Amino acid sequence: MSSSLLIAIDGPAAAGKGTLAKRLAVHYDLHYLDTGLLYRAVGRKAQAESLDLDDPDQMTTIARALDTSDLDEASLRGREAGELASRVAAHPGVRAALNAFQRDFARQAGGALLDGRDIGTVICPDADVKIFVTASAEVRARRRTDELNAKGRTVIYEKILEEVRQRDDRDSNRAVAPLKPADDAHLLDTSELDIESVFREACRLIDAREA
Ligand code: DC
Repeated sequence: MSSSLLIAIDGPAAAGKGTLAKRLAVHYDLHYLDTGLLYRAVGRKAQAESLDLDDPDQMTTIARALDTSDLDEASLRGREAGELASRVAAHPGVRAALNAFQRDFARQAGGALLDGRDIGTVICPDADVKIFVTASAEVRARRRTDELNAKGRTVIYEKILEEVRQRDDRDSNRAVAPLKPADDAHLLDTSELDIESVFREACRLIDAREA
């Protein structure tokens, strides 16, 4: 194992990158940061304080004041927090405020794996391996619908598909750090693959770099 391996995993919502990232971090013994949590925490805090999510100055102030105690995962999961995150993430000031934390995390001893939307392009352009995980919007919406239904929530596929498309649209078309693969990223389309095959393929890409 390399002690300073840095891996960037990016991709749209519900492509399976969180599951993959967590597994890879354990497998390669790397510190792991789910960067979406930072944006989710900003969105949740703004909501709790009844602030206007479209106000760049207020959102930037919240992002600057964020600390690790705001990153309690339980309250940040779910579609609503994801939606809030996607809105606040469009403000350049918010992104700038969160950059230093992410870069420091990436540089720590022992190596790191970060997942998000702009890790390979903006946060860690020098990452050793960049993987851009995708799947068609239909497949992602189907997986999310099944996941929610399995948890006992009754959701409608068409509605979830609409949400997936809206989020893709907002994340891909914002002016700053839009969702897009870095030029040197490996594209990993999970539409036709199960979790195990996705994991194996990612390991192959990472190991090929190390060889
Ligand atoms: O990965 P996620 O679903 O937790 O991300 C929630 C939102 O946060 C996503 O729709 C866009 C934003 N985000 C971002 O802009 N940049 C990142 N590095 C991570 C997340």
